[in-house]
Amino acid sequence: MTAGTAGSAVPEPYDATPFLPARGGLPAHRRAAADCQGCPLYRDASVTVFGRGNAHARILLVGEQPGDQEDREGEPFVGPAGRLLSKALREAQIDEEDTYLTNAVKHFKFTVKAPGKRRIHKAPSLREALACRPWLEAELRLVDPAVVVVLGATAGRSLLGPSFRVGADRGVPRPLPDADGTQVVATVHPSAVLRSDDREAAYAGLVADLRVAARAAR
Ligand code: URA
Repeated sequence: MTAGTAGSAVPEPYDATPFLPARGGLPAHRRAAADCQGCPLYRDASVTVFGRGNAHARILLVGEQPGDQEDREGEPFVGPAGRLLSKALREAQIDEEDTYLTNAVKHFKFTVKAPGKRRIHKAPSLREALACRPWLEAELRLVDPAVVVVLGATAGRSLLGPSFRVGADRGVPRPLPDADGTQVVATVHPSAVLRSDDREAAYAGLVADLRVAARAAR
């Protein structure tokens, strides 16, 4: 069973744009996002998980999509990946209070092997990430950070294009396309650190990239 397979069809191309409010700040956008049906992922997820944090943050971090715990709590990065990210931010001397955390995709995509079994994360498609991008663009416009940190491939492809590769593109600040002076720094997703065979080295790489982001935000 895959998220978004039941119910009436969502019109194609998938696109969140019709659900965005014409005006308003982050609270208005968070309220509107709760009713987004721009792609089929809304059907099986519990809630829309909008971004959280400092509305005037100098550093905005973009993950992939909410996980199981985020879907239950309605907040991004509150599960194991979020705890690891918080630790890495502290180590890179980035005050989490001065950040804004969000995801490229605002609904949890998952599979279940059988009814009542654990929900297993399934990576969102590029089509779903692009459908959701208007929410991310609105967050970028409203927060207007100095630096955007893309955590992993989904966030990277959403913001930097389909040829983005974490391995090739990480750790180097570059201008965010179509943004006025905002820099972007790519790094690994904290879940990839948790899954890594050499967790210590993967974590050190994440912290090093976050230090680059911290310097770029000064
Ligand atoms: N992974 C993400 O990319 N985002 C979250 O919010 C949680 C886990």
